Amino acid sequence: MGTDPFAAVSAVDPELADVLRREVARQNSTIQLIASENFTSPAVLAAQGSELTNKYSEGYPGKRYYGGNYVVDDAEELARQRVCALFGADHANVQPHSGANANMGAYLALLEPGDKVMGMRLDQGGHLTHGSPVNFSGRIYEFVAYGIDPDTEILDYDQIAEIARRERPKAIIAGATAYPRIIDFPAFRAIADEVGALLIVDAAHIAGLIAGGAHPSPLPYADVMTFTTHKTMRGPRGGAILCRKEYAKAIDKAVFPGMQGGPLMHVIAAKAVCFQEAAQPEFRAYADGIVKNARALAGALAAEGFRIVSGGTDNHLMLVDLRPFGVTGKLAQEALDRAGITLNKNTIPNDPESPFVTSGLRIGTAAVTTAGMGEGEMAEIASLITRVLRATGDEQIATEVREAANRLCSKFVPYPG
Ligand SMILES: Cc1ncc(COP(=O)(O)O)c(C=O)c1O
Repeated sequence: MGTDPFAAVSAVDPELADVLRREVARQNSTIQLIASENFTSPAVLAAQGSELTNKYSEGYPGKRYYGGNYVVDDAEELARQRVCALFGADHANVQPHSGANANMGAYLALLEPGDKVMGMRLDQGGHLTHGSPVNFSGRIYEFVAYGIDPDTEILDYDQIAEIARRERPKAIIAGATAYPRIIDFPAFRAIADEVGALLIVDAAHIAGLIAGGAHPSPLPYADVMTFTTHKTMRGPRGGAILCRKEYAKAIDKAVFPGMQGGPLMHVIAAKAVCFQEAAQPEFRAYADGIVKNARALAGALAAEGFRIVSGGTDNHLMLVDLRPFGVTGKLAQEALDRAGITLNKNTIPNDPESPFVTSGLRIGTAAVTTAGMGEGEMAEIASLITRVLRATGDEQIATEVREAANRLCSKFVPYPG
């Protein structure tokens, strides 16, 4: 038995300590397939849990509003320098609290309210911050959507060019929250150049694959790249913005004082650790492993009779069309949760169901790959998912699969002790 990592919490708040322990137990013992999640390292957790949380650091290294920043300045400098080296960027802002904030910073820096922007259709994989009417993006800017080819289910670059010629947007956003294929950044750049638009790449999901060489980089094609540090990057929950040097001042001004107050210095320290980890050779092997596992899982699910949107995957995730099994995404998510398999329902292209019900699942392999699972385990996971979805109301099967999931996870425990 190791020492209790939550002893200090237990001493003042046993009730909350119990929640922390139960959540670690859940992550350790059930299969985590949410495409935007990962298991961050003990080093990242330690930096994120550090005393840097106490420091107020409005401003940027060397130009802060309060005293006493000469130590934490070094943490932010390390994070900025490392992430620029990792992606080959001119400038980085590591202060956005999240991916949505990173996008807000990019828009605030480059756009005026009412400007026209092109983003991917939300029901085909785009993110809320790419123009949803219930999000600030759709309320402040005039978004026009592009999408995928209905036959191939791959981004339709001819259609994107045609819409861009017609609409003349100020900026085009490339990037998605549920798109399983390589994004062709040179094609987006050519379209943006043809119509005189800026190119913003939202690499929230694929940043770790880019850092690890498993997905082509949007740099130097993008004017600005935003991303999250907690998905395939495997770092602390947060966001970051990379940009060409001509936008550096505008980006920094947009993040602070434009939209945030004091940065989360403990999280920035943890981002520095994450960027250091992502620069190691093992991270390249990790990124490669994520994609191999995704291909293996998609192949095994297809062999079980599921339809995989676009016929497969090139990245860390796949979209599964459940209609051949006659179950909705909502039902499938709930049934799998009871069976120890965590994933999320997701719309599939031209989904006949509402976004609360859906006909599909989104499945990602970043976390299980971190846990050490390989292609053999992907085949086992596909067969467990299939058993549950062939008999969604059967509690006996749910119990058996939950036990099998627990047994599998016991060999790949992300947080032992
Ligand atoms: C493409 C994309 N952009 C932005 C975000 C927002 O990130 P966050 O949840 O950290 O605000 C997400 C999150 O899922 C995403 O998938």
